Amino acid sequence: MADQSVPQDGPAKAWSGRFSEPVSDLVKRYTASVFFDNRMAAQDIRGSLAHATMLARQGIIGPSDLADIERGMAQIVGEIERGEFNWNLDDEDVHLNIEKRLTALVGDAGKRLHTGRSRNDQVATDIRLWLRDAIDTILGLIREFQLAVLELAEHHADTPLPGFTHLQVAQPVTFGHHLMAYFEMTRRDAERFADCRKRVNRLPLGSAALAGTTYPIDREYVAELLGFEEVCFNSLDAVSDRDFAIEFCAAVSLLMTHLSRLSEELILWMSPRVGFIDLADRFCTGSSIMPQKKNPDVPELVRGKTGRANGNLVSLLTLMKGQPLAYNKDNQEDKEPLFDSADTAIDTLRIYADMMGSRIEANGERVFNVRVKKEAMQAALTQGFATATDLADYLVKKGLPFRDAHEAVALAVRVADAKGCDLPQIPLDELKTAMAHVAGAVERLDADVFQVLTVEGSLASRDHIGGTAPKQVRAAIARARSRLA
Ligand code: ARG
Repeated sequence: MADQSVPQDGPAKAWSGRFSEPVSDLVKRYTASVFFDNRMAAQDIRGSLAHATMLARQGIIGPSDLADIERGMAQIVGEIERGEFNWNLDDEDVHLNIEKRLTALVGDAGKRLHTGRSRNDQVATDIRLWLRDAIDTILGLIREFQLAVLELAEHHADTPLPGFTHLQVAQPVTFGHHLMAYFEMTRRDAERFADCRKRVNRLPLGSAALAGTTYPIDREYVAELLGFEEVCFNSLDAVSDRDFAIEFCAAVSLLMTHLSRLSEELILWMSPRVGFIDLADRFCTGSSIMPQKKNPDVPELVRGKTGRANGNLVSLLTLMKGQPLAYNKDNQEDKEPLFDSADTAIDTLRIYADMMGSRIEANGERVFNVRVKKEAMQAALTQGFATATDLADYLVKKGLPFRDAHEAVALAVRVADAKGCDLPQIPLDELKTAMAHVAGAVERLDADVFQVLTVEGSLASRDHIGGTAPKQVRAAIARARSRLA
C-alpha cells in the first residue's frame, strides 16, 4: 500500500494532487499525446485566447489577467514558430504543455485560464478548428485538380477512345468525356467536404468536462470570436462525439476512391500493352534492376494510400462504437487517423493537380503531363466492334424492333470476326447476307449505314446532356468552368 503522506517525486502533473505516486514511465508514454497533438498548437492557443477574452468580458477574470494571458500566448506562439518550444512528455498533451508554459511566463493569470473549461471541451474545440482549416485546404486543392482536368478535357474534347464496360470495348467516347467523369466525381467530393464543414463548424467550448459550468459564460460570444456558425447544444454530446471526424474520413475515403480509380486507369493506359498515354517522367520511377522500366509510381501509391484512408475511417468508427457518454480517453486515439486522412488527401490532391496539369513551352505550345497517344486510342477503336450499337440503332430508326436489330447486328459481328475486320469494312451485300435470317433487316439496310458506323458519326450522334458528342463535352466543360468561377 502506498503511504498517502509520502509526497510524489518527479514533476507534478496538472491533475496529480489526489495521487500518491507518480505514473510509471511506460504509462506516461502510453497515455501522452503531446508528440502528435502538438500539431494543434495554433488552434489550442486561438481557442484559449477566445475563452480568456470571454472570461474577462464576463468579469470572471480581471482585465490584467487577460492582458497577461495575451502577452504570454504571443511569446509562446513565437517560441513554437522558431522551434524553441520545449514539448515535454511529462505534461501529457498540447493543452497542458501550453498552459504550463503560460503559467511559467505570466504566473497566476496562466492558472486562471482554465476557469470554466475542461480539456474535454478544449480538445473537441481544437480538433474542429484544425479540421475546418484542413477542409478549406482540401476544397482549394480539389478546385486546382478540377481546373487541370478541365484543361486536359478541353484539349481532348474530340479525341476518340474506346469506352469500356467489363474492360471490353463497348462504344466510342471522347477522352474529354471520359475525363469529365472525374470532374463530376470530385464535384460531389467537394460537396461532401463543404457539407461536412457545416457540422464541424460548431463550438463545443463551454461544455466543460461534460455537464457545463457554474460560471456565467457566454458561449455565443466565443463562437463568434472563433468563427463557429453555432454552438453545440448538448454538453455531453459536445465533448464526446466525433461523428464530424468520421464524416470527414468518409469523405476522404470517397475522394481517394475516385482518385484510385483514375490511378488504375492511368496505370492501365500507360502499360505498353495498352499504350494510350505516357506520364511525364517526374511522376514515375525506374527499376534498380531492369534498365528499361518506367513505372507509374505516383498513381500506384495513390491506389495504395486509398487503403490507409479506408483504414482510418474504420479505426474511427470502431473507436466510437462502444463508448458510453461522455468523454473517454479512447477519444485521444481519434487524432492520428484523422490527421493521416487529412495529410493523405492533401498530399494526393497536390500531386494529382500537378500530374493532370500542363505548362506553356517557350514556343507557346501547351504541354500536358499526361501525354495522349491518339493513334493508339484510334487503333483500339477498330478492334472490338465499337459501333455495333450504332448499327442496331440505325435499323431501329428504320422501323425494326430493337431486339431484332440486336440479333441482326450480332450476326454481322460474327461475320466481321470471321473475316478479321471491323464492321465498316464489311461490304453492303455481305452485311445483307449476314442479316438475312432476321426478318425485316435486309430491306432496311442502305449505303447510308456506313455513316453511322464511323467513330465520328457514332460520337456526334450522342448529342444530349451527359452524352459523349464533342459538342456536349464542350458544353459540359463550359458548365464546369462557370461553376468553378
Ligand atoms: N489529450 C486528450 C485527448 O486527446 C485531451 C483530453 C483529456 N481529458 C481528460 N479528461 N483526460 O483526448
